This record gives sequence, structure tokens and C-alpha cells, in this order.
Amino acid sequence: MAKEKGIKEIEDLPGIGPTTAEKLRAAGFDTLDRIATAVPADLSELSGMSLEAAKKAVDAAKQATTLEFSTASEIYEQRKALGKISTGASSLNEILGGGVETNGITEVYGKFASGKTQLGFQLTVNAQLPVNKGGLGGSVLFIDTEGTFRPERIEAIASAAGMDPKAALDNVLVIRAANSDQQILAVERADKTIKERNIKLIVVDSLMSLFRAEYPGRGALGERQQKLNAHIHKLQSLADVHGLAVYITNQVMDNPAILFGDPTTPVGGNIVAHAATTRLYMRKSKEEKRIVRLVDSPSMPEAEAVIKITPNGIRD
Ligand code: GTP
Ligand code: MG
Repeated sequence: MAKEKGIKEIEDLPGIGPTTAEKLRAAGFDTLDRIATAVPADLSELSGMSLEAAKKAVDAAKQATTLEFSTASEIYEQRKALGKISTGASSLNEILGGGVETNGITEVYGKFASGKTQLGFQLTVNAQLPVNKGGLGGSVLFIDTEGTFRPERIEAIASAAGMDPKAALDNVLVIRAANSDQQILAVERADKTIKERNIKLIVVDSLMSLFRAEYPGRGALGERQQKLNAHIHKLQSLADVHGLAVYITNQVMDNPAILFGDPTTPVGGNIVAHAATTRLYMRKSKEEKRIVRLVDSPSMPEAEAVIKITPNGIRD
């Protein structure tokens, strides 16, 4: 996007002084393009500027950037080239339009034992399969923030998929992040490894647990959301640049504002909600059965699939 009108940096926008600019940069809003496409409420939440000022800044950023257009056919061709990782269950693949898509972030939220980690293990195995078998023929970067990565499960799921379990384990790079700084750094420094090891899937299990533990209370929320936003933007940019898929799991809370229906809400606020390309809500049914609801997707309607967690992995 070309810039005009003498507005070149985010500080040149109305209402954005050096302090606000610093906060916005820390949160990943470091270019006019980023501000132009931002939701004003997010900018306000992240920098402390008023909502009114944030709206003005976004408008000014929009005017200062010019867009290059693509035809819908060009975009269609690009979309057809996106990869899909099979989830192991055809019903779930179907509601996703084929599987977990590359170049985007797929988030699964749900209560404990709903199966978020197990689905992550299945995707970790399936991403290694050749494209004609529902994979991407690549390796996996697994960021474990809860200490729940289990190589035994990878071994079992890979064997069931007809793969050499040792090779399947060798294709998974695991980082046990002990704090949110390690989690952030694992992603910040991933570029080189992604190229060298042909990483096609990044799993973050779970996105919010360390952030929640380290930034308790309202006072720390602004700083937490800034760091989180930058972290998620980096994940999205890795997905775009390297054509890989990002799978994140998320915790839930009961939203007291929801009086009727299911109050289960993913944590992380607007920042996470806006950043996830596709959102799935997973909940327990009878025994090994799980219900997966597609809550948000740019191309598929809201729908539900029933899957099973079996010793061999995720199945219909
Ligand atoms: P939290 O991380 O606690 O929020 O939960 P989660 O959503 O990640 O749940 P997870 O994916 O760990 O799912 C746990 C469930 O998977 C358990 O209730 C088990 O029923 C099931 N499970 C775990 N391991 C196995 C296994 O080896 N075989 C079978 N059949 N089921 C398993
Ligand atoms: Mg888990």
C-alpha cells in the first residue's frame, strides 16, 4: 500500500503521540496498514486512548493508505491453493470445508477434558501425511504451555494411521514454555526452524493459560492484551508467509451476561476473537463422544459435528 498526505508513521496520525505509539507498536500495530484495518475498540483497549480518538486515527490511517485491488478470481485461485489438514473425522472435516486450513488460525475452545489437546495430537500426526491422504507432508512445531504433550499419544495415533511412529515423533519439535515470555519467543524465533524443518503446522496448547496466570486482575489487562495481540499477529504472519496452519486451544469461562443458553465463553477477549480465522467450540457428550460446533468461519456456515476420542485418535 502506498502512503500519501505526509502521513508515513503511526505517530503522524491524529491522537497518536509517542507514548500511545509505543504501546500500539508493542501490541503489533506498527504500520499504517495495521491501524487502517484495526477495530477502534481494540486500539482503545490496548493503548488507553479514547474510543473516539481511536476511530479518528483509524479513519486517518484509511485515508493515508491506498489499496491495490485483486480480482475475485485471483483470490479464488489463491484460496484453492490453501492446504487442509484432516481432523481424522469426516464429519468435522465437512463442516470445516475439508479440514484445518493453512494461512490462518484455527482456535478450539472448551472445558477441561473436552478433547482440545487430543485433536491437537491428531492434527500433529495428520499434518505429516502426504497431501492426498489429508496432510501437508510437513513437520510440526508444538508449543506446550500446560505440560500435557504426550509422545505416547503421537506414537499410538501415528501407528493407527499406518505411519512409522519413530519417524512421526522425529517430525515434531516440542517446546515446553514455562512462562509467557518463552511462549512469545518460541514464536518470534520460529522463522528459521520453519524453513529448515518444513514446518506446516504450529500448535499452541494452550494460548492463554500462562498469560492468565501471569497477568491477574484488571490492572494488568492492558499489558496482557498488548503482548497477546503481538503474539497472535506473529502467528498469523507465520501462517501467511510460510503457508502453514496454526492450531490454538483456548480455555473458557462462564459469561455472567449470558442469562439464557450456554454461558461458556472463550477467554482472551476481543483480541483473540478477532484474530482467530476459524473458531470451534468443543464439548463433552456421552462417554468418548464430543460435539464440535463451528462458531465462526469466513466461508462455512455454523454447524455441528459429532466425533469420538478413541485410543487411535479422533474418529467419526
Ligand atoms: P484441558 O487441557 O484440561 O482443558 O482439556 P482438553 O480439552 O485438552 O482435553 P484432552 O484433549 O486432554 O481430552 C481428555 C480426554 O481425552 C479424556 O477425557 C479422555 O477421555 C480422552 N483421552 C485421553 N487420552 C486418551 C486415550 O489414550 N484413549 C482414549 N480413548 N481417550 C483418551
Ligand atoms: Mg488440554
